[in-house]
Amino acid sequence: MADVTQELSINIDRLSQRLADLAAIGAIEGTEGCARLALTDEDKAGRDLVVTWMKDLGLDITIDGIGNIIAVMPGEGPPVMCGSHIDTVRTGGRYDGNLGVLAGLEIIETIQAAGITPSRPLAVGVFTDEEGARFAPDMLGSLVYVGGMPLEEALDIEGIDGAVVGPELERIGYNGSAPLPGLVPHAFVELHVEQGPVLEIEGVTVGAVESVQGISWTEVVVTGQSNHAGTTPMHLRKDPGFVAAACTQFARELALELGHPHVATVGRVELHPNLVNVVAASATFTIDLRNTNEATLQESERRFHEFLTATAEAEGCTVETRTLARFEPVIFDPVVVDLVESTATALGYSVKRMPSGAGHDAQMLARVCPTAMVFTPSVNGISHNPAEYTSPEDLLAGANVMLHTMLQLAEG
Ligand code: GLV
Ligand code: MN
Ligand code: MN
Repeated sequence: MADVTQELSINIDRLSQRLADLAAIGAIEGTEGCARLALTDEDKAGRDLVVTWMKDLGLDITIDGIGNIIAVMPGEGPPVMCGSHIDTVRTGGRYDGNLGVLAGLEIIETIQAAGITPSRPLAVGVFTDEEGARFAPDMLGSLVYVGGMPLEEALDIEGIDGAVVGPELERIGYNGSAPLPGLVPHAFVELHVEQGPVLEIEGVTVGAVESVQGISWTEVVVTGQSNHAGTTPMHLRKDPGFVAAACTQFARELALELGHPHVATVGRVELHPNLVNVVAASATFTIDLRNTNEATLQESERRFHEFLTATAEAEGCTVETRTLARFEPVIFDPVVVDLVESTATALGYSVKRMPSGAGHDAQMLARVCPTAMVFTPSVNGISHNPAEYTSPEDLLAGANVMLHTMLQLAEG
């Protein structure tokens, strides 16, 4: 086993500089955040920059048919892989996903500079469209990487702007030819900001992530009767806007009734024609339901659907639903979780075993190899917001836990 010592440390200034350089692409003016929705020009520019850095490190770079970028150190056998994503939501921070990728480069640069050649090579993956904000489902690239969705199906997915994955990948030049499903790593570890408040509130530096909660995303289209807002008596309306609002209210009440950790979000609502004096013709909205318990998640899906159907019917509206994403809760490999925990302790950091509320590429990699994650605190628990922030001290701690965890996995 490799020694766990503070003497071998990543360079936090170099990591912070790369985070800043990447965040300059698609920067949201007046904020620290950025907008690099998957497969846009900004995503391409971000990828190009990361690939330049990978080349500078002498890594062997492959790109597969869904645009995942895998960079491996020279060496024999399945690598110990880390990685994450560099696409962001439209109002993203600079850490979500980017940290996991750039910390991987930093770890490799650190061990190269120290003259260490691990018994197994290390690798960094950049997985396409983790956010799912433009093209659902989320974790699309890593899902295809592990064989969870056929490539042809993924390439046909249409985004919220009408663009399609395949042509967009081609347009930005990231429709590669590396085989899918991809190379199976010896083990996978993902560093990510917590994106929630728990570590900060409890004053803990490192999260050893042992599970990811289940995710259910549905798009709902309610169709009613568009009409004049001044002349249509209330009892004669067929108002999709009302149905969407009632469902939003119900989702909140249901989440409170089911209790923590259940969460429910209506994050996207589009009324058509969306005018002040017109009863809407249609409402399109999304419902995001999550729970660590699969049975409770299913119960919430059933009850939400019953409410939606009954409310729409009472309003004289029709409903169509489409599943955008559905992933069961995932349990990470206890051996790798233990290793993250013991490594953090050996480095002198406080550590807590915890579930993840957000979806992550690691939950897909867990289908094919021993996997876990390292969380680092998010100030005020803020994420999916340009105000997302993690202090350099916490980034250093998280990246060093990753460094030593990966080195031990490479020898073990
Ligand atoms: C994806 O990252 C999600 O958790 O929504
Ligand atoms: Mn992320
Ligand atoms: Mn995210």
